[in-house]
Order: sequence, then C-alpha cells, then structure tokens
Amino acid sequence: MSNTLIAPSVLACDFGRINEEIAMLNESEADYIHIDIMDGVFVPNISFGLPVVSAMNKMAEKPLDVHLMIVEPEKYVEEFAKRGASIISVHYEACPHLHRNLQQLKDLGVNRGVAINPHTPVELLEDVIMDIDLVCLMSVNPGFGGQKFIEQTYQKVTKLKKIIEEHGTQTKIEIDGGVTSSNARKLVDAGADVLVAGSFVFKSDDPVHTIHELKNV
Ligand code: DX5
Ligand code: ZN
Repeated sequence: MSNTLIAPSVLACDFGRINEEIAMLNESEADYIHIDIMDGVFVPNISFGLPVVSAMNKMAEKPLDVHLMIVEPEKYVEEFAKRGASIISVHYEACPHLHRNLQQLKDLGVNRGVAINPHTPVELLEDVIMDIDLVCLMSVNPGFGGQKFIEQTYQKVTKLKKIIEEHGTQTKIEIDGGVTSSNARKLVDAGADVLVAGSFVFKSDDPVHTIHELKNV
C-alpha cells in the first residue's frame, strides 16, 4: 500500500460537468481535492470563489485542500473554513505576519498550510515549522495549470524534509505544479507526502486510472 497522498487539482476539470468530476474523484483513490483560489492580485489570474467551493463541498466525499493564492488571506479564511475546507494554505509571500495567520487557522480548527513560491527558500519556514501541518511547495509559478515542472524542487524537498525531521514535527510536504508520473517517484523518494496534479489527471483519458498510477508510482 502506498502512503503517498494524491490531491487532484480541480482547476483543470470541466466546470460544466463539475458534479460528474467530483463524483469521479469520490470513486477514485484521490485523498484530497485540491482547490485553487486566485484573486487576480497575488497571481495574474482569477479562478473561482466561495459559491463554487460550497457547491463542490456538497458533492465531495474527500477533504477539501484549499490553496489560497490571494492577498490578505486573513480576511477570507474563516469563510473558506465554513464552506468546508479541511486544509487551508496561505502563501508565505502574501503574509507579512505569518505567525498570526497560523494562529488564526489553528483557532478555526483547520489544518494549517503554508505555500511557498519557487524562489522562496524553505529555510524561511524553520521558525514556524512546528505550527504548520502542510507545506505546499510550488513547483511552478502559481497562477496557471499546465506549466512545466521546475527541477530545483527536488532539492527543496530534501532540505525541507531535513528541517521537519530535525524539529520532529508531523508536517507534510505537498508538491504543486507540473506533477506527472515521470517526476512523482523522484519527488516521493526526496520526501514528498502529497502530490497535487491538475492537467495530468483531468486531461488524461482515464482520470481514475491516472490517479491510481500516481498513487502507486
Ligand atoms: C497553480 C496551481 C496548481 C495547478 C496545478 O497555480 O496552484 O494547483 O492547478 O496544475 P498542473 O498539475 O496542471 O500543473
Ligand atoms: Zn494549487
């Protein structure tokens, strides 16, 4: 049995068939449903907002993993928690008072996630690692699905894994962007716990099988 967790990103799904897409994920070996929220300010794209999250939550039988690519996430996290988010990741680069954001997530009773951009060193999380349940390492520049995986990510996983082990925390490492069956094995070997995959899953002929393939890579 594989311990790797798979979080398909619905950004790449067919929103005209959202109920069927969520039903497919329910039937699959997906562990989380990754939900990308983009505000057109923190990233140069707009995805979807709260009503769509509520609609997906009604259907979903798996935990919602909400990735907030937005400025001032502290204004919205409570609402995302109410709408069913189990994990909420805020971006390091959008949070000048990250420690306070983590406290807020804790008070809301959700799993506390921090996402970091490709240029942000993992060492910057060292002093708050004990307060983080999941680090979302961006392996593309956030804002769009279907981009090419940045190879430097492997080294970041290794460094982050070491920090987590040194501090003895249960923090999970999630990889987000350009994940396919070609890089999944190497990522897991380096210490990744959760693989996000958008295009690779939803643009494949048999998404359920593709999720199985990633899970057992
Ligand atoms: C990028 C998003 C990713 C994206 C992944 O801004 O955070 O979650 O949907 O899509 P793929 O797997 O297509 O790179
Ligand atoms: Zn994401």
